[in-house]
Amino acid sequence: MKILRSVSEVREELAGYRNKTVGLVPTMGYFHDGHLSLMRQARAECDVVVVSLFVNPTQFGVGEDYDKYPRDEKRDAELAGEVGVDYIFAPPVEEMYSEGFGTFVEPSQELSNKMCGVSRPGHFRGVATVVTKLLNIVQPDKAYFGQKDAQQLVIIKSIVRDLNIPVEIVGMPIVRERDGLAMSSRNTYLSKQERKQALALYETLCLGKKLIAQGSRDASALKKQLVANLSRKPGVEIDYLEIVRAEDLKPVERLGGKILLAGAIRVGDTRLIDNMILEV
Ligand code: PAJ
Repeated sequence: MKILRSVSEVREELAGYRNKTVGLVPTMGYFHDGHLSLMRQARAECDVVVVSLFVNPTQFGVGEDYDKYPRDEKRDAELAGEVGVDYIFAPPVEEMYSEGFGTFVEPSQELSNKMCGVSRPGHFRGVATVVTKLLNIVQPDKAYFGQKDAQQLVIIKSIVRDLNIPVEIVGMPIVRERDGLAMSSRNTYLSKQERKQALALYETLCLGKKLIAQGSRDASALKKQLVANLSRKPGVEIDYLEIVRAEDLKPVERLGGKILLAGAIRVGDTRLIDNMILEV
């Protein structure tokens, strides 16, 4: 496995694979099984697998965790190597945002001004910009993203459609810890007590799933019940809990079809997200 630092190196290396399929897995590193599941899928489906490892400054707001975001390139390279990744593209910030950089990709407001976009203004603009750049740099046939970041996945699909980027976006299921907590690089911030409290969001999503299975169909009544449940959990501050259409994040009143139950909480200083897609 080779580690590439510059755009020109990526172009040179990949020029040799003209009629091979290239898979890209964009990441910010500090790999866990969620990341590795995307790499394994890419390995199974593509001739060449490129993983990008870049903690993207433009998707972090002022006061967010850009500086303390966990980083361990050596460990990441070992894990990616074990999965059979061919290249890691780990550019320095100046390679992605050189002097004079000023072009941003502004995703659909309808998709980005809700849920995570409310407490993280500008976040999806940063994600959209860096993902578009990565797709242009690597020019993969397929790019792999996790359902864990459900809103991000919907937005990326819409960018690819709106800007006619020739890539297939593959969405992959959420990988969880044994007790159900969604894997996240940010879980490393949690103390032992916070780690237990963090489970509240998953438990609330499970309650939602159960209530829907029992016949609950009124979205606002269900949301009230779930928010009440979550606000009773110790150590947890609710950022949002939403029930929307899975495909386009539009609000729903009467539950039907494919719906997304998604939430974000704060446990101590750590913001965590999780979701479930339910077929009603
Ligand atoms: P990061 O948080 O490192 O996640 C990289 C990819 O792994 C994303 O597609 C994310 O959805 C997926 N992922 C994270 N946790 C997962 C889990 N528990 N199960 C399945 N997949 C999971 O998301 C980003 O980085 C960035 O925003 C990025 C797209 C790289 C742009 O900077």
